[in-house]
Amino acid sequence: QLEDEKRMIEAHELLSKFYHHLLLNTKEGQDALEYLLARGFTTESIRKFKIGWSLPNWDFTVKFLEKRGYPLELMEEAGLLVRRERDQSFLDRFRGRIMFPIQNPKGDTVAFSGRSLQKGDEPKYLNSPETKIFNKSKILYHYHGARASIRRKQQAILFEGFADVISANEAEVENGIATMGTSLTEQQIGLIKRLTDTVVICYDGDSAGIEAAFRAGNLLTNHGMNIRIAAIPEQLDPDDYISTYGSEKFQQDVIGAALTFMAFKLRYYKLNKNLNDEGDRLAYIEEVLKEIVGLSSAVEKDFYLRNLADEFDLSLDALQQQMGQTGAPRS
Ligand code: CTP
Ligand code: MN
Ligand code: MN
Ligand code: MN
Ligand code: MN
Repeated sequence: QLEDEKRMIEAHELLSKFYHHLLLNTKEGQDALEYLLARGFTTESIRKFKIGWSLPNWDFTVKFLEKRGYPLELMEEAGLLVRRERDQSFLDRFRGRIMFPIQNPKGDTVAFSGRSLQKGDEPKYLNSPETKIFNKSKILYHYHGARASIRRKQQAILFEGFADVISANEAEVENGIATMGTSLTEQQIGLIKRLTDTVVICYDGDSAGIEAAFRAGNLLTNHGMNIRIAAIPEQLDPDDYISTYGSEKFQQDVIGAALTFMAFKLRYYKLNKNLNDEGDRLAYIEEVLKEIVGLSSAVEKDFYLRNLADEFDLSLDALQQQMGQTGAPRS
């Protein structure tokens, strides 16, 4: 059993090296390399993150593994191969894709995600399936590579995707890790907690990213972590932001200016509300009061209550009274 897992990892390591070589040094990898460079990835980070290219053949990987004595059933189990329904013959799972190797917390390569080159070639990212060595909910992209930096800075930056981590790294933000597009899990929080209890959430600027940041923020807070939320302008993600505005602005205006969770929530509750509408306005006040009730510091309570009173021209008295009711247990 353990022997099997060792072989699965070995195969990933070998293939990762070969895909990387194909991308950097061969004619077959040229288009993919040009695509990556045009997007703004540097050769240095292509090396650092061992990005690769899988050939658009049906059985390149099959032959590669077969030649080196890896049992093909085991390689199917490892997620590297799939089977044709017709005759049960093996073929490559990843064909003609930019390959991002994924490491477990120990640094072993245990999975791949392959990005399509062409728009409309779905899925955009094709991932390894769940296997004995790859459980997506227990892995954060670049956790192993970022751990020293996270420890040193006593802060982790949480992104959604591969490109965000890599671009941030180029911008000298080296404590970045990513959930790879799925919602943050308890096990992933456990991994971060081994290194630090401070997290800056830096998700995409679209509504999916904002919703995910709200959920991740609550989950992390419930686990006693200190969090901030870095806001990316709508329609951009951190990688786009860095390409558009540069490293310095990213460091200063995004990471450096990350909002406290409370400030983020005050904005969040305003989304999709028309504050000129009486009903919406009352709903907003109610939501904010609920947040204020949950604050543990008396000073903070007072601070946000006064802000709310000022903003809506309300008396502190009325808010305090209302807060008493909001805080009462519901039946
Ligand atoms: N993802 C995935 N499968 C998909 C789409 C996304 O696993 N079909 C994961 C990837 O890890 C991806 C992350 O979710 O990096 C965030 O998705 P998205 O924002 O759509 O992609 P980007 O990282 O922005 O990718 P790119 O910049 O290359 O378009
Ligand atoms: Mn970039
Ligand atoms: Mn996204
Ligand atoms: Mn994105
Ligand atoms: Mn992107």
